[in-house]
Amino acid sequence: MSLASSTSRAKSSTAQARGKSPGVDLATTKPGTPGGIFMRQFWLAIHRSEDLAKGEAKPITIMNESFTLYRGQSGRAQVIDSACPHRWAPMHLGWIEGDDIRCVYHGWKFDCTGQCIEQPAEEAGFARKVKIGSYPTQEYLGLIWCYFGTGKPPAFPHFPHRDTPGIIQAWNVEHVPCNYLQSFENSMDEVHVAFTHAPGGSHAKLSADLPILSTEETDWGMMRYGKRKTGLVRQTLHYAPNLTRVIVPPVAGMDGVGGWPEIYFSFTPVDDENHLWLITSHIELNTDAERTAYKKQREKYEKELASAPASVDVARDLMAGRGNYAATRHPDLAIVQDIAVQAGQGRISNRTHERLGRSDAGIIGWRKILTREFRLIAEGKKPKKWKNPPADVKPTLGF
Ligand code: FES
Ligand SMILES: [Fe+2]
Repeated sequence: MSLASSTSRAKSSTAQARGKSPGVDLATTKPGTPGGIFMRQFWLAIHRSEDLAKGEAKPITIMNESFTLYRGQSGRAQVIDSACPHRWAPMHLGWIEGDDIRCVYHGWKFDCTGQCIEQPAEEAGFARKVKIGSYPTQEYLGLIWCYFGTGKPPAFPHFPHRDTPGIIQAWNVEHVPCNYLQSFENSMDEVHVAFTHAPGGSHAKLSADLPILSTEETDWGMMRYGKRKTGLVRQTLHYAPNLTRVIVPPVAGMDGVGGWPEIYFSFTPVDDENHLWLITSHIELNTDAERTAYKKQREKYEKELASAPASVDVARDLMAGRGNYAATRHPDLAIVQDIAVQAGQGRISNRTHERLGRSDAGIIGWRKILTREFRLIAEGKKPKKWKNPPADVKPTLGF
């Protein structure tokens, strides 16, 4: 049964609810599941670089598993297991010494590769037999990326970005209380902008007419086309497994300076019911005057944002029926609006009750790919070999 047509109430059941289609759970990324194995083939953005200071260690959860993320004194970021292999004390409570980390419970020390290199109360020779899990970690576009799969990681995807002058900036990270796929799917839904983002008017230029959507699977993910009445096409790239590259209007607080930013938008699962929005934008600024105006506006926006309630809290109020959606204003209004409609679908949306139409071509296209890949993985067959994004395929504005 195709996912697109799985709308019959008669066919729905408890087993099919919570993000499942018959035999395929699209939502879970738990280790060992088809979704979990699929996601662990890729480098994933997991944290904003500027939110991790030298000498800092913190607990993180990604795809239902706990880890420790720390930054050594050299500036190197590293992901390791969450618990010390001695007696399972939390590693993030420990001390950073150079680029090594020492457990707070009995002082065992581990290097970046996870090798135990010191055990103050043990005999020499024991340490070399002990290793903690360590995961390839890199930084790029203002974000920390990690590979959680087995074996050698694939080449790091240096996503090609604009070579025009401008500013590359990692945005505030959002913790969104729903399954990651709901938000990744929303990024494939070009029609929602004319309605969800109508209040505040940020997306008015994209709302002059509703595009006809189509998709094409590529060797790096999926290309989506939104054809306008003018014949012009807005082209958006969806890199497997969770990253959308698109040109968007500026958020409300940044309206009026620079052009539209091109964003790299990762939807990274925390667990099956929560995920992160990790966004880096490239805004084109060609002159000193433009750069100065942008930086000034950015300072003002950051001040406004610091004194405004968190986007997710405003969205939660709207989801709970407190406040008026159309009247809500916020420096990150589009983000508030998106969280409200996406998390408002439930922690894991029940896809068996949906009624998909032609405007859902992006969602249908991606679910077909996921379903095929998950089935191959479940049957022990070889999944698709994904390639890194090419430099010459770029998003377009479409007007
Ligand atoms: S639990 Fe970490 S050193 Fe004992
Ligand atoms: Fe949106």
